[in-house]
Amino acid sequence: MVDVILGLQWGDEGKGKIVDYFAPQYDIVARFQGGPNAGHTLYVDGKKIVLHQIPSGIFHQNKINIIGNGVVLDPVTLKRECDAVAAFGIDVKKNLFISERTNIIVPTHRAIDKASELAKGESKIGSTLKGIGPAYMDKTGRNAIRVGDLLDKSFTTQYIKLRLKHQKLLDNLHFIEDISAWEEEFFEAIDFLRSLNVVNGEYFINNEISKGKKVLAEGAQGTMLDIDFGTFPFVTSSSTISAGVCTGLGVAPQQIKRVMGVTKAYCTRVGSGPFPTELHNETGEELRKLGNEFGATTGRPRRCGWIDLVALKYTCMVNGVTDVIMTKADVLDSFPNLEVCTAYNIDGKSSQEVPFQMSKMNIQPVLESFKGWKIDTTGIKQAQDLPSAMKEYIQFINNYIGADVKYVSNGPGREQIVAL
Ligand code: GDP
Ligand code: IMO
Ligand code: MG
Repeated sequence: MVDVILGLQWGDEGKGKIVDYFAPQYDIVARFQGGPNAGHTLYVDGKKIVLHQIPSGIFHQNKINIIGNGVVLDPVTLKRECDAVAAFGIDVKKNLFISERTNIIVPTHRAIDKASELAKGESKIGSTLKGIGPAYMDKTGRNAIRVGDLLDKSFTTQYIKLRLKHQKLLDNLHFIEDISAWEEEFFEAIDFLRSLNVVNGEYFINNEISKGKKVLAEGAQGTMLDIDFGTFPFVTSSSTISAGVCTGLGVAPQQIKRVMGVTKAYCTRVGSGPFPTELHNETGEELRKLGNEFGATTGRPRRCGWIDLVALKYTCMVNGVTDVIMTKADVLDSFPNLEVCTAYNIDGKSSQEVPFQMSKMNIQPVLESFKGWKIDTTGIKQAQDLPSAMKEYIQFINNYIGADVKYVSNGPGREQIVAL
């Protein structure tokens, strides 16, 4: 049996915290896509930690954590993160497993990412510059090096071949930076990676499932950044949706039971691309300040706006969401009025659908207003104690999207979550 936790907006919905919260109910936590572009924030013993490559179940003793074949893995980030996790007494050699089919990010992927963003100028994606796009290009282009290849004698030859191919691209993009230091740390990290548990991921996970073990699949990014269903081309390069669990771990669709979609009570986006409910005013600033909306991976200020129900209904649809989890509701505590987007006005026509080419359209959000609750909710533990204005806000959202918010997160801490 597999349950899924994934993002319903443009990423940073608080997936890491939610995975960490639910992990005790599962035997295995598995990342199925994305790479070090992800930044999942957890609080362990009151200390903040941001995970980029390791699944967010790692801090629970005796849980298996898997990096699935759908992930692109940067060995340098992984090594750094393993050291950070070890400082909490976690033995990654015991708890962490990596699929041999996982694709590797090499230093030149990062260089190509940087050079192609520069070449795009004004129309840049706003990539995290972690080499994600180029690594997935080499996967679908059938050139990639995979974790299983590291154990093979031909690895160095394979690396040199790929390096030469990348050099031609970099020359075309006029990239002249010296990346020898990146390569040095890469090879050190490769040695470390060889010392970890590399497994045949699809057999490993299916064997565990057939023994009755429960798997929690952890998504990175969000559905509006999905390569097919996001705001293309301002998207990431992987399948961030529930279907990505099957290809990213090698599990059959019948195994998937709950699809838990995480949304903020408002909305943010980091990087370029359309964002119909974005606020370019003091309210947007207030959301950024109160929500501490700065990227967990790049530190960039996140763009902020009201919740977009047109997009949320769409993302619930493509994922088959069974449970919605609303995070950062407490960030709205002090707002006297809230707004939600219930339709898009596109060239004078109203629509409740996410259009094909959002990035080329002038979309005006149609907003509906709500009274804020003006109460500090961060200490609330029981649904009955939540303010009635918050309940009305949630009920309106449930009715619109046709799915139910089942949990409200009211602070970054592990225990700050209320079941409805
Ligand atoms: P992820 O990428 O989806 O895991 O989310 P990030 O970690 O990038 O960003 C979410 C941020 O919000 C982190 O700083 C979390 O600690 C914080 N956070 C998560 N849930 C809540 C919540 O309910 N309330 C508040 N105030 N912060 C939260
Ligand atoms: P988590 O898992 C928010 C955004 C980037 C950029 C676009 C493409 O923490 O929610 P990429 O580096 O993938 O080529 O960048 O996607 N992006 C994210 N935004 N949260 C993330 O991950 C993101 N991962 C990528 O800012 O706009
Ligand atoms: Mg994040």
